Amino acid sequence: MKIMVVGGGGREHAIIKKLKESKKVSKIYALPGNGGIAQDAECVAIGAKEIDKITAFAKENQIDFAVVAPDDPLVLGAVDALNEIGVKTFGPDKKAAIIEGSKAFSKNLMKKYNIPTAEFEIFSDPKKAYEYLETAPIPTVIKADGLALGKGVIIAQTRDEAKDAVRSIMEDKVFGASGENIVIEEFLTGPEVSVLSFTDGKTLIPMVSSMDHKRAKDNDEGLNTGGMGTIAPNPYYTDALAKECMETIFLPTIEAMNKEGRSFSGCLYFGLMLTEKGPKVIEYNCRFGDPETQVVLPLLKSDLLDIMLHISDKTLDKAEVEFMDGCAACVVMASKGYPEKYESGFEIKMPTDKNIYVAGAKLVDGKLLTAGGRVLGVTETADTLEKAIEKAYETVKTVSFDNAYYRNDIGKRALMAERQAN
Ligand code: AMP
Ligand code: GLY
Repeated sequence: MKIMVVGGGGREHAIIKKLKESKKVSKIYALPGNGGIAQDAECVAIGAKEIDKITAFAKENQIDFAVVAPDDPLVLGAVDALNEIGVKTFGPDKKAAIIEGSKAFSKNLMKKYNIPTAEFEIFSDPKKAYEYLETAPIPTVIKADGLALGKGVIIAQTRDEAKDAVRSIMEDKVFGASGENIVIEEFLTGPEVSVLSFTDGKTLIPMVSSMDHKRAKDNDEGLNTGGMGTIAPNPYYTDALAKECMETIFLPTIEAMNKEGRSFSGCLYFGLMLTEKGPKVIEYNCRFGDPETQVVLPLLKSDLLDIMLHISDKTLDKAEVEFMDGCAACVVMASKGYPEKYESGFEIKMPTDKNIYVAGAKLVDGKLLTAGGRVLGVTETADTLEKAIEKAYETVKTVSFDNAYYRNDIGKRALMAERQAN
């Protein structure tokens, strides 16, 4: 089969590497892909948001199956457009992608269907938001309603910080139209768990759980980033919690979306916080997480294309979905300075026989050069988390480029949790 994967980061590289293991795959195109993905797929210079060009390419090249990976094209309706021209596609349609596209939508959905989440208020008028903040409990969390490149969440420690956040989102419009409405919500505490799931709107199969490391520096200090590393499975996520989440969060979400006439098909991502009052939803994503995918898919034993085909045929109950018993760790290597200013264009030297997922690199005259904040993710698997982490850091030492920066403590907290549990 001829496959097309829309997107061009580490997540897409992990999806492509896994799809390549399928005997059914004869060719993979990546739109736009990147210099590293070019080792595993044919990259085509079409941006992930250029929906007209994506559909035209699919038609011209007789694509048998498409995977739309990033949030933007999903929210813009890329899956609807591909379905309209008869291309089978993995991913939610526009009506269902709103579960990530609008936080006001997802918060109201959870309230209506009693799915546990932080208490919240929604505002479209900044004056009302300022008024509310006079007495709101502090710290508080301010979220832009729409997509904001993962930067639309501000945790305010003081009333003034909260008001500044409202001002920059609603009045200075730093996230454009995404900030026309805001959610102000209760600040929750507890370990965070990411659970990606396969669903066709009827059956839901959770993948192995994982833990992201969002801050730029060791010990969870520094600015928020797109993710500096991940481990799987997440030791905080016990079997008992998995059962509870299935009953109180996962299945109710699928049912709620069906009742709203927005049946979800694809990968539904649950960002959870394990609070003292039980697991609560911090956020939904309508897609595979990045860099969670870089630890989850290497542990998948089953054929990914097969699962995706079953999902698009609404026969997920017939699919074989099995994960290995082992553990995985992914260390992201970034350009020094990320997520703020950084330099690019340095040559990357790395082994080719490893699970290295390239996020920000381009090929120039046959050389792979850095071309982004997060450059690549190095994943290793092993039978224990400790060994997976150790192996990942050993492999990191075999990768080099100028100005490389990475965290030294990926998985450290997970290991501590594991030891406490035993
Ligand atoms: P997001 O961009 O939605 O992934 O949120 C970024 C991060 O903000 C989450 O991973 C949490 O660490 C934090 N966060 C979001 N909402 C809350 C909340 N209600 N309470 C505490 N932390 C939160
Ligand atoms: N790692 C979080 C996300 O993909 O949004």
